[in-house]
Amino acid sequence: MEVKTSLLDNMIGVGDMVLLEPLSEDSFLENLRNRFDHNEIYTYIGSVVISMNPYRSLPIYTPDKVEEYRNRNFYELSPHIYALADEAYRSLRDQDKDQCILITGESGAGKTEASKLVMSYVAAVCGKGQEVNKVKEQLLQSNPVLEAFGNAKTVRNDNSSRFGKYMDIEFDFKGDPLGGVISNYLLEKSRVVKQPRGERNFHIFYQLLSGASDDTLKKLKLDRDFSKYNYLSLDSAAVNGLDDAANFRTVRNAMQIVGFMEDEVQSVLELVAAVLKLGNIEFKPESRCNGTDESRIKDKNDLKEMCELLGIEQSVLERAFSYRTVEAKMEKVSTTLNVAQAYYARDALAKNLYSRLFSWLVTRINESIKAQTKTRHKVMGVLDIYGFEIFEDNSFEQFIINYCNEKLQQIFIELTLREEQEEYVREGIEWTNIEYFNNAIICDLIENHQNGILAMLDEECLRPGTVTDETFLDKLNTICAEHQHFESRLSKNSKFLTDHSLPHSCFRIQHYAGKVLYRVEGFVDKNNDLLYRDLSQAMYKATHSLIKQLFPEGNPTKVNLKRPPTAGFQFKASVGTLMKNLQTKNPNYIRCIKPNDKKASHIFTDSLVRHQARYLGLMENVRVRRAGYAFRQAYEPCLERYKMLCKRTWPHWRGPAREGVEVLMADLQVPTEEYSYGRSKIFIRNPRTLFFLEERRRQCLQDLATLIQKIYRGWKCRRQFLLLKKSQIVVAAWYRRYAQQKKYQKIKSATTVVQSYTRGWQARKLLRELKYQKRCEEAVTTISAFWHGTQVRREYRKFFRANAGKKIYDFIIQRIMQKYFLGLKNTMPPMSPIEKNWPARPYLFLDGVHKELRRIFHLWRCKKYRSQFTEEKKAVYEEKLEASEIFKDKKALYPSSVNQPFKGDYLEISKNPKYQKLNSAVDEKVLLADVVNKINRANGKGTARIFLLTKKSVVLADQKTGQVKASVPLPDLASVSVSTQSDGFFALKLKEGSASAIKGDFLLSSEHLIEIITKLHRTGATDADREQLLVDISDEFLVQFKQDKVCVKFIQGAPKNGNSVSCKRKNNRLLEVSVPTTA
Ligand SMILES: Nc1ncnc2c1ncn2[C@@H]1O[C@H](COP(=O)(O)OP(=O)(O)O)[C@@H](O)[C@H]1O
Ligand SMILES: [Mg+2]
Repeated sequence: MEVKTSLLDNMIGVGDMVLLEPLSEDSFLENLRNRFDHNEIYTYIGSVVISMNPYRSLPIYTPDKVEEYRNRNFYELSPHIYALADEAYRSLRDQDKDQCILITGESGAGKTEASKLVMSYVAAVCGKGQEVNKVKEQLLQSNPVLEAFGNAKTVRNDNSSRFGKYMDIEFDFKGDPLGGVISNYLLEKSRVVKQPRGERNFHIFYQLLSGASDDTLKKLKLDRDFSKYNYLSLDSAAVNGLDDAANFRTVRNAMQIVGFMEDEVQSVLELVAAVLKLGNIEFKPESRCNGTDESRIKDKNDLKEMCELLGIEQSVLERAFSYRTVEAKMEKVSTTLNVAQAYYARDALAKNLYSRLFSWLVTRINESIKAQTKTRHKVMGVLDIYGFEIFEDNSFEQFIINYCNEKLQQIFIELTLREEQEEYVREGIEWTNIEYFNNAIICDLIENHQNGILAMLDEECLRPGTVTDETFLDKLNTICAEHQHFESRLSKNSKFLTDHSLPHSCFRIQHYAGKVLYRVEGFVDKNNDLLYRDLSQAMYKATHSLIKQLFPEGNPTKVNLKRPPTAGFQFKASVGTLMKNLQTKNPNYIRCIKPNDKKASHIFTDSLVRHQARYLGLMENVRVRRAGYAFRQAYEPCLERYKMLCKRTWPHWRGPAREGVEVLMADLQVPTEEYSYGRSKIFIRNPRTLFFLEERRRQCLQDLATLIQKIYRGWKCRRQFLLLKKSQIVVAAWYRRYAQQKKYQKIKSATTVVQSYTRGWQARKLLRELKYQKRCEEAVTTISAFWHGTQVRREYRKFFRANAGKKIYDFIIQRIMQKYFLGLKNTMPPMSPIEKNWPARPYLFLDGVHKELRRIFHLWRCKKYRSQFTEEKKAVYEEKLEASEIFKDKKALYPSSVNQPFKGDYLEISKNPKYQKLNSAVDEKVLLADVVNKINRANGKGTARIFLLTKKSVVLADQKTGQVKASVPLPDLASVSVSTQSDGFFALKLKEGSASAIKGDFLLSSEHLIEIITKLHRTGATDADREQLLVDISDEFLVQFKQDKVCVKFIQGAPKNGNSVSCKRKNNRLLEVSVPTTA
């Protein structure tokens, strides 16, 4: 939290004189002294700062202090010049008000220091940046330059400003400095040629002689020894605490920073040297024939050197010091100068030279520091003008200076009172006018156009005829005699006739700050400020550019007969402008007071301070301030400060601050006449009231401190307790956590074991599967490898040596087969089917083939043979084949029949006429015609019969007659029975029930049995509607004779009747056929 202090805190005496109680001159001084003794050199009168010169450096200007006062309210901290500077800068920056800082006080009171403090504070708090810093630096560095040329040691002040200075610092809208303009007022140039006892010439002379290098001095034709120069006072050349040599370096450096060119610096130094040289020029009288004295230069060496420095022709200057040309009515009259006049001319030249050089320096500095931009800017003016001066011997300069101070006092009165009144109006407070001394009357005495002292001085100066200081005083005596503030012995005001403190050649003015006695001697001259034209023309002729520039009126082509304006007139005019300028700005006052005349610290000379306080009108200032209300404060800070005094406003007031203050005041029962409510401030009439509030506040603060202490202690204990409690919870929590952790770890490890077993089991299972899979894959690989190997070997076998044997073998076998087949071709047997020959096989291993080939060849030979057959032959063979099928290996007769061709028609029945009748009886073509024996059942003897076979029937006819004995249709035949023997017997059995069956079966024998049976069988086969005729081959069969069935039995018997077969009836039912045994 920001610590808010107040002007009222830690106060030594009172920080603001307005609060002084009781208010009297004594108490006022006592307060100042009290504060001064405690190093509180600043005290306020409202917004005015009183500054006591401490004459020693205090640790209150540090950067920390700058920060402390930065952006704080004026009354917030203990009085300080920084508070004023901050207030001025902030209202310039934030409220867009031009400001001026008016620093007044007598010589040595600390005005210049104050002005520097203000400038350095503003420089420290305003914007930063390369450009801004350069501007700041230039503004600050203009000070050492001007101080070197314009300040001197006086009895009052070792570094007394001998010119008035007003500096306008220009800022842009952000509050960054842009540049500045310096105005200078009336340099005390008489100091160049003459210094009062105990004082010095301007610093620069001493600085140059002690600080410049030998080389520079040689160039400037100077000697380091001060005593060689008439213009330098010798008794106080060295000043305690002042290092001229070091300061010279500072000045050179400052000039460089401000922007002086090297040759400009050189020129300036040359002019300074020329002034010193000029002082050394001395004159001696030389009587002339007309009895008058004429001046002659004693020793021309200095003149020569000076002329060399400035580039002036020696003779011209020499003449200018001896003669004076006066122009009257277009005529030039030259008069000689006597020694006194020559000295006067010399000093006038020196003074002019120096003061013009000073003005040029100011102009030159202004050129450097002027604002570069043309945008609208805000201005802060700092006025450090020479203070009110009362010397033993006061002359024109003091008169002018004091006039200036009168004007400043005037403006102070006007602005402060006006400001005060305006504030009341602004705040809506009733205002009753307050009496105060208005010094306008004194200003009028001096500056009145008609009868003001300055106007009369001008009148005297311009008046033709003899004009002396005495005539001027006479004039004053007549015109101003009645003025309250003018005193003169010879005035018509008889009350001063006996005033011996008032010499005859003097007049006295009652300034606002006291009475000052002015000696009129020199008034006219100084006001005229004349420089003989011969001298200015001589200067203009110089080759030195700067000096030529400083004396423009010496230009012979621009001779101006009009007198230049007098010094008084000029000063009045410039003071007038300054006042106008100041009036447009918001004033801020610093009133400097010097505590003693000894330039010593810690000494507070009561009378001296009392005097200053009086003439500065400080008491009046306080009174005016208090006339209305002694103290005022904006509502917010007021409420903030006193809110603890009322329960309703403590600790927070929610409403508007003004209402809070009203509640507060009502609660505190402050009499209503003691305060007023303005629009933004509360005005407290009597300081007592404020102190009452302060006292209550102090007490309340003590109570509050106790309360805070109490609460703090309680809070601390509670905090301690809570901390312990919290710690206990933390410990418990940690322990629980630890225990749970342990338990968890146990469970976890058990789980891990179970898990690991399961996982192991699963893994092993998986491993087995994988292994199996792997083996399968390996087997497949092996098999495929073998298979591939086999394939490859097979493919490449032909390239293997091991296979050669097989190949040779195959080849040989092939060759053998080839030879075998080719040989077989040549030894083929004949194509006859009955041919049995077949070539012998050459090798045993060909046995199968050989036999197979023989079989194939035979089949092929038969096929070939068969393919040559005609249809008839084919039929014959077919019959033969059929016969073979029926009888082969069944009947012994068969083999003998194979060679017999089947003739069929053995009887040539169609050709033989014997059988014509028979032939015609048979419609169909006769398939077979033969003679057979029909066996008689009774005896077994055979009767020849013709046997005919047609397609449809079997016909038996008588051999002799050819008469058909029986005709049996083929379908009526049931079967044929034959024996297995080589006999020709066969029985035709008829189907029971058929028409032919009535006569019974036929038992026949034939030589062509095989042919007959075969044809019978065949005929039946070709006729599709008939059943195949059964051929029954056995050695015993039954034959149906009429009603009886007779068995025919075949036996092999010894041949009785040669080779013939005999049939005998054995009994009724048996016929026995004996068949010779075939060998
Ligand atoms: N605030 C201060 N702190 C320390 N010394 C100071 C202060 N003000 C003035 N002085 C001393 O007093 C001397 C005269 O001050 P200066 O400002 O030159 O007076 P003035 O300009 O009023 O004639 C300075 O040289 C310095 O030694
Ligand atoms: Mg000064």
